[in-house]
Amino acid sequence: MSNAPAAEELQTEEEIDLTEANEVIDKYLTLPGNLMPVLQGIQEAYGYVPKPAIALVAERLNAYPAQIYGVLTFYAQFHLKPRGRFIIRVCVGTACHVQGAERITETFFDRLKIGHAETTADLRYTFEKVACLGACGMAPLAMVNDDTFGKMTVQKVDEIINTYNARPMK
Ligand code: FES
Repeated sequence: MSNAPAAEELQTEEEIDLTEANEVIDKYLTLPGNLMPVLQGIQEAYGYVPKPAIALVAERLNAYPAQIYGVLTFYAQFHLKPRGRFIIRVCVGTACHVQGAERITETFFDRLKIGHAETTADLRYTFEKVACLGACGMAPLAMVNDDTFGKMTVQKVDEIINTYNARPMK
């Protein structure tokens, strides 16, 4: 089944300043096979790929929106919704699972009132369950952006949230 949004959904999209998207397209316009670098550049500029930017790319690269959605949904690196300033990742690999990752995950859900792959309304946090992060000796493991937190406990969840609540949004 296609993940492309319904037409009505496209029409109700938020208003976005497309200046940066146009600049990215200008940069790669004459490059063969430019769709990937264009989409990567747009995500870098906005933090995700906004729907109006997809329409713009389709128009300027003379591509079908469905083709662009195909690329965006195939590659996990692309995000179609705004993401939080802080990306919380909790490992649910085997070692972390055995050491209680589920309790850590549930505690984040409870405190932040969001679930997996969701973002808080204030855009401060996005939460993601992830596969083994390669530091099983520190299980259960969590990360916030590039910071790693090993031997996670419920108490550490609260400490992390307090710490990042105090951080500036920019
Ligand atoms: S299973 Fe969690 S870091 Fe390996």
